[in-house]
Amino acid sequence: MSRRPVIAGNWKMHKLQSESAELANAVMKELKEIDKALLPEVVIAPVFTSLYAVNKALTDCGCGKVKMAAQNAYFETQGAFTGEVSVEMVKDAGAEYVIIGHSERRQYFGETDEMINKKAKKILELGLVPIICCGETLEQREAGVTDSHIASQIKAALSGLSEAEVAKSIIAYEPIWAIGTGKTCDADEANRVIAMIRGVVKEIAGASAADSIRILYGGSVKPNTIVEQMSKSDIDGALVGGASLTADSFAAIVKGAM
Ligand code: PGA
Repeated sequence: MSRRPVIAGNWKMHKLQSESAELANAVMKELKEIDKALLPEVVIAPVFTSLYAVNKALTDCGCGKVKMAAQNAYFETQGAFTGEVSVEMVKDAGAEYVIIGHSERRQYFGETDEMINKKAKKILELGLVPIICCGETLEQREAGVTDSHIASQIKAALSGLSEAEVAKSIIAYEPIWAIGTGKTCDADEANRVIAMIRGVVKEIAGASAADSIRILYGGSVKPNTIVEQMSKSDIDGALVGGASLTADSFAAIVKGAM
């Protein structure tokens, strides 16, 4: 087994177009000296309105070291869905990945397991990679239902996907109580949950898909947490929020994952 690590920066609702292009350029500058073959897969996820500007910055650089994700996309192709942006549209703007099912989308925008599954199908159908988020609340953790809750989120999200589609997907385990709080989940515990998720993937899509799928940890990842996290057997990278908003801390995380 040799899964390529992934470090993805979720910029959330931050940065205007010019600021986004600036940050993308600064990230590439930080990674300039590193041989592309040694780098993890590096992904940045700006807001919709910055996709074009960031794609242009990444394309102009031509180094191919940083890829772009959208933070969400709707599963319908087009039509009367005011305020939504389709997977085709974010692909057209240069996104190669789409984050789906982030806990903030589930919590504030009513995203359901069923919608996440439809989005995953559409994203894969169009040749993009879904980054499927899952995670438990503090109440669920304290009630001892972490594993069953996450298993059910994963089963729903992956329902009806082929083994090959599951294999190329990315999952991000993000305990909600660790997001933006500075409280990281203990690396051994994160690894335990991620290994459990891999077991669920094996049950649904077989051993080969479970061995190929990348499963990331997210929740207050910082330059000083990444090395220990990456040393664990099942953690294949990180989905980074706050620490992805400055080039030096994001690059330090990328380097720490190498
Ligand atoms: P955080 O966010 O790194 O700021 O905790 C992670 C996320 O929500 O993806």
